[in-house]
Amino acid sequence: MTATDAGTDAGTGAGTEALREHVATQLRRARERSTALTEAVDDGDLVRQHSELMSPLVWDLAHIGSQEELWLVRDVGGREPVRPDIDDLYDAFLHPRADRPALPLLSPAEARGYVREVRDKVFDVLARSPLEGRRLEADGFAFGMIVQHEQQHAETMLATHQLRAGAPVLHAPPPPPGRPLPAEEVLVPAGPFTMGTSVEPWALDNERPAHDVHVDAFFIDTAPVTNGRYAEFIAAGGYDDPRWWSEEGWAHRAKAGLTAPRFWLRDGSGGGTGWSRNRFGVVEPVPSDEPVVHVCFHEARAYATWAGRRLPTEPEWEKAARFDPATGRSRRYPWGDGEPGPEHANLGQRHLSPAPVGAYPAGASPLGVHQLVGDVWEWLDSDFHGYPGFRAFPYREYSEVFFGGDYKMLRGGSFGTDAAAGRATFRNWDHPVRRQIFAGFRCARDASREELA
Ligand SMILES: [Fe+2]
Repeated sequence: MTATDAGTDAGTGAGTEALREHVATQLRRARERSTALTEAVDDGDLVRQHSELMSPLVWDLAHIGSQEELWLVRDVGGREPVRPDIDDLYDAFLHPRADRPALPLLSPAEARGYVREVRDKVFDVLARSPLEGRRLEADGFAFGMIVQHEQQHAETMLATHQLRAGAPVLHAPPPPPGRPLPAEEVLVPAGPFTMGTSVEPWALDNERPAHDVHVDAFFIDTAPVTNGRYAEFIAAGGYDDPRWWSEEGWAHRAKAGLTAPRFWLRDGSGGGTGWSRNRFGVVEPVPSDEPVVHVCFHEARAYATWAGRRLPTEPEWEKAARFDPATGRSRRYPWGDGEPGPEHANLGQRHLSPAPVGAYPAGASPLGVHQLVGDVWEWLDSDFHGYPGFRAFPYREYSEVFFGGDYKMLRGGSFGTDAAAGRATFRNWDHPVRRQIFAGFRCARDASREELA
């Protein structure tokens, strides 16, 4: 059952009941994950700030409940507020992350009780919602928005776990093995394709509407840049040569003292790359064949310039991911329109690292580009703007207030992104200096006239 399938039938009795069941399943999955991430550590760890970049985990937990209360209990349900006194405390716009530990936050026990109380009411609201009619309720949109919100905070909490010091508390099996790809890059032909969506029921405002974009012919890597390749850039003195860096990137490199991806250690025990890393508390050799992760936009851009290449733009990335040359259609996902399965992509914290290159042959796009969805968010050389015809929904603070800011686009999701937010139209953005997110990149290049002849 997919949101799309369920949405198509909404309005008929059976379709509405299937959609209700789908919403309930998604809500439960999201809660199982945020519960696991907050129960893996003790109360002291929950209230501690592990990095200035992150909230204490207990803030994320109560904030998840607060957003759920605002949209589902009060707005969709029309019910009395549960805790109107804490609205401001958990308003992300009122309090920067660095300030959150000093707030009179709910204790871990209070936060757990609060999210449980809100969720009980939400299941009652869900049972009574027609899941059609006004736009917020049609196709269960508001519920889908809240599921995605909780899953996005779960990924943020996973990033907090990565920043946390101490023994490992999270465990997962290793990702599937890699295998050689038939080509290092593929040609994406020139021409228009449909970017964004007007039909995906749970797509957020910034993914809408669908619109045609012309893209010139270009080559894109079939896989994200690996640790092994990135280590070559470091060994070649890439961090010491201003030729590869933008002026802004070079200044940031110096100020922040960047010498390698975040969490990499030069301790002599590394394997093929000569580097080790700390991954959720486990110190291990950096594997050569996994996509590099925890690099900022400036590092990605410097690598690409050193390699004689460039980062893709956002339309290029989406065309490589969705365009099917046989039909001229844009797919929901690189592999087709069906929901992601474990054979397609490394999503949903099923594993605690990116998978080696070639691990997901069934997830390749029609043009032969692999691992676009899952593994690592991919930095793109595009700023954040609304698509032509953009309309803020359901509130300006979801996307519109970020347009034109100091952000670069990230696409495709990471191993920590849930499938609920893993659509190939899903857009993410962050400051170009950020490294705590699960972000890597792949390279592209223009196609020359001779190559197209
Ligand atoms: Fe939030």
